[in-house]
Amino acid sequence: MAMIAYKCPQYRVTVVDINPTRIAQWNSDDLPVYEPGLEEIVKASRGKNLFFSTEIEKGIKECDIIFVSVNTPTKTFGSGVGMSADLQYWDKTAKQIRQFAESDKIIVEKSTLPVKTALAMERILTATNNGVHFEVLSNPEFLAEGTGIKDLEDPDRILIGSRETPSGLKARDSLVEVYANWVPRDRIITSNIWSSELSKLVANAFLAQRISSINSISALCEKTDADITEVARAVGMDRRLGNKFLNASVGFGGSCFKKDILNLVYLCRHYGLEEVADYWQGVVNINEYQKERVITNMLSTMFNTLAGKRICLFGFAFKANTGDTRESPAVTISKRLIEEKAELVITDPKALDNTKMDLDSIEGNISYIEDPHEASAGCDAIAVMTEWGVYADLDFEMIYRSMAKPAFIFDGRNILDHKRLFDIGFNVFPIGKPPLTHFK
Ligand code: UDX
Repeated sequence: MAMIAYKCPQYRVTVVDINPTRIAQWNSDDLPVYEPGLEEIVKASRGKNLFFSTEIEKGIKECDIIFVSVNTPTKTFGSGVGMSADLQYWDKTAKQIRQFAESDKIIVEKSTLPVKTALAMERILTATNNGVHFEVLSNPEFLAEGTGIKDLEDPDRILIGSRETPSGLKARDSLVEVYANWVPRDRIITSNIWSSELSKLVANAFLAQRISSINSISALCEKTDADITEVARAVGMDRRLGNKFLNASVGFGGSCFKKDILNLVYLCRHYGLEEVADYWQGVVNINEYQKERVITNMLSTMFNTLAGKRICLFGFAFKANTGDTRESPAVTISKRLIEEKAELVITDPKALDNTKMDLDSIEGNISYIEDPHEASAGCDAIAVMTEWGVYADLDFEMIYRSMAKPAFIFDGRNILDHKRLFDIGFNVFPIGKPPLTHFK
């Protein structure tokens, strides 16, 4: 919404939320979300044509277009538990819009939703006939964290799904006009509403599938002395495949991939498509397998016991350039390391506050130290969880001297100079590459 306000000074954009603390933060100097470039565009528009408020009723009454961006987490109860999307906030919002609207509105689904949600939305909105016409559009958001502002400013595509009725097409054209203020027309695509809803789930499933594909091959590389970076390069140079999203890792994380795939799997099962559901479930299974593989590799490498050993995790965020730790592979890996009775020292440039909350209920020896040099002192092993650029430029001679011996490095993101680390004295265990060790 900040980007729309920034690019379209002729519109008035109001963001409403039920949480007064959040709104106060959005109105302060300290925004509640860390995202490079966000602060600049919020500050450029706030108070001019961008407003943050808790007055939901007023917001609904005044606006012509309402973007519904409430959370749709995986259900934690009842039917579809652990798989399908929890639509309770969505449902409540639809009822609120119906209650307060006094003029015709375009309702835009921004949250990621199961296909056919627009139908439920339409049914809720039209359940009481108050003479107001609602037109529901689907406009999924494809931005990634850390590059959100760039992705919004220069998107690969904007997708707008609508009903193919005259009023549906008219509403669709109004939303096209909004984006056309800065996005080239050929990148604004339209479709039927169900294709649009489904495309978002499928885009995330395909991205995650690439990571699970490369991670599955990383396991085979470790058995065969092939090198995953070389394999990924050779595969990715095929222009039909492309070279993006082929970095082997400790597994994918983030608030979207797992949730959206499970949602897709649930939908497939709902429609009796068991084979299709199993196929996509495999993407999540490989991701779990990869995290467990990291633990078993550490265990077997460090002489089959981690009890009492100090392990320093380099990074906890689910990826670099964000403080977000939701579904981070580091969460699962930390819990497993604690089960093995290892002591953890965790370092991360942006995510330590979230990390402390994630591990709050875990009983074990965990400390949090922001400086990676200090954090690794006295440790038996370093395990890279997040691909923060700063980790490549550390003083590894000094780190080696300060660690217990033999000193291990598990590079779960393949971002370090492995040969150099080996020459310093480390035993180096990358993902999907032959290890470099000093053991005879
Ligand atoms: C994702 C989608 O990219 C975005 O289009 C959608 O709108 C929301 O979900 P995001 O969750 O922010 O965005 O992160 P993304 O950059 O896709 O990374 C997801 C996870 O995959 C991270 O844990 C990342 O480290 C991991 N990853 C990514 C890999 O392990 N290897 C890769 O090659 C790429």
